[in-house]
Amino acid sequence: MMLNPETGAPANEVVLEAIGLTKHFPVRRKLRDLFNRTHDAVHAVDDVHLTLRRGRVTALVGESGSGKSTVARLLAQLYPRTAGDIQLHGQSTKVKGGRQFRQYAARVQMIFQDPFASLNPVHTIRYHLTRSLKIHHNAGNSAEELEAALNNLLTRVSLTPPERYLDKFPHELSGGQRQRVAIARALGADPEALLADEPVSMLDVSIRLGVLNLLRDLKERLNLAILYITHDIASARYFADDTMVMYAGRMVEGGDSESVTQSPAHPYTRLLIDSAPDPDRIANMLGDAADRGNGEPPSLIKPPSGCRFHPRCPMAMPRCHTDLPVRLEIGDKPGHWAACWLYDEATVAAQPPGSAAAGHSPEAVTVAADAHPEEVR
Ligand SMILES: Nc1ncnc2c1ncn2[C@@H]1O[C@H](COP(=O)(O)OP(=O)(O)OP(=O)(O)O)[C@@H](O)[C@H]1O
Ligand SMILES: [Mg+2]
Repeated sequence: MMLNPETGAPANEVVLEAIGLTKHFPVRRKLRDLFNRTHDAVHAVDDVHLTLRRGRVTALVGESGSGKSTVARLLAQLYPRTAGDIQLHGQSTKVKGGRQFRQYAARVQMIFQDPFASLNPVHTIRYHLTRSLKIHHNAGNSAEELEAALNNLLTRVSLTPPERYLDKFPHELSGGQRQRVAIARALGADPEALLADEPVSMLDVSIRLGVLNLLRDLKERLNLAILYITHDIASARYFADDTMVMYAGRMVEGGDSESVTQSPAHPYTRLLIDSAPDPDRIANMLGDAADRGNGEPPSLIKPPSGCRFHPRCPMAMPRCHTDLPVRLEIGDKPGHWAACWLYDEATVAAQPPGSAAAGHSPEAVTVAADAHPEEVR
């Protein structure tokens, strides 16, 4: 077994696992709802399976509202879940605030999109980092040890020399430096997993790469398991070892990043890639071409039956309207799967050769997506 030189922990060991993770947010009821017995809920996350391993970055990609942040918050135990399990080193976890939460947070830390909002403007960098070290009992036993730990944290995130930053306030730093401080604060807990929810999307394009490279460096040196949430499938290809694609609360494709981004199997993943670098343009791109869903993500209060993508899918078959797709192996690389009936042997056998649904025919999807190129611009 390969051991990491710095931490001594086995490489690729599973740290955190989501099993059938589900979150429904109740919709606030109106007076008239008291008389009918329906309990509406936003189906934000349904039956999500996800594994985070030491020394690996797993990207979670999807357009706005697909449930990515909800998955991260569930994994961080910031929300109670509706169903499913979260296992830390194979042990089921259910955190009910206070001490239990702190113990969990010592191992699983979150980094948010907006580093300015996540740092308190009235406190210095020293205060933020000291607090994190103290809460997680990593501050040492003397002023010298604390100072050494603070210097070490800032050095880890390349804010050197540390003295230049320790007594500054958040507003005195650039966006990239603030995000580095937020990362240093997370490292103050000495965690095993980092959940990074769009950690670079609010930063200038020119400094995004530096922060991603820092996270990659930390992954390698500290053998961290990292969940990297992003809209940008191109950055997942660059930065993540594994990539999972989410649509309307469900996982639709997963595998190693190279397979998922170079030979995407699910029609939705193909559309994300064709519309990169900004997958949000997918809505415009589909436009009238597939107007069945108005090119908008579906309502999550009454999600579409069968495959949630079927109203927008250029390749939808009758079965997709009714049957929820299961994970099907694509067969090009071990572990590459898609929840799409195009890859079901029964579907493939039933189609005449050369038809759109026969086996891998992602080109057909590309053509459909390109049908209205003027809308792409
Ligand atoms: N606290 C909440 N109460 C009710 N609905 C919520 C709550 N949080 C999220 N939702 C809903 O759950 C769905 C998923 O939201 P989520 O924030 O997880 O998406 P996301 O993929 O992170 O989107 P974005 O890319 O915009 O950050 C959305 O429809 C959202 O409106
Ligand atoms: Mg989000």
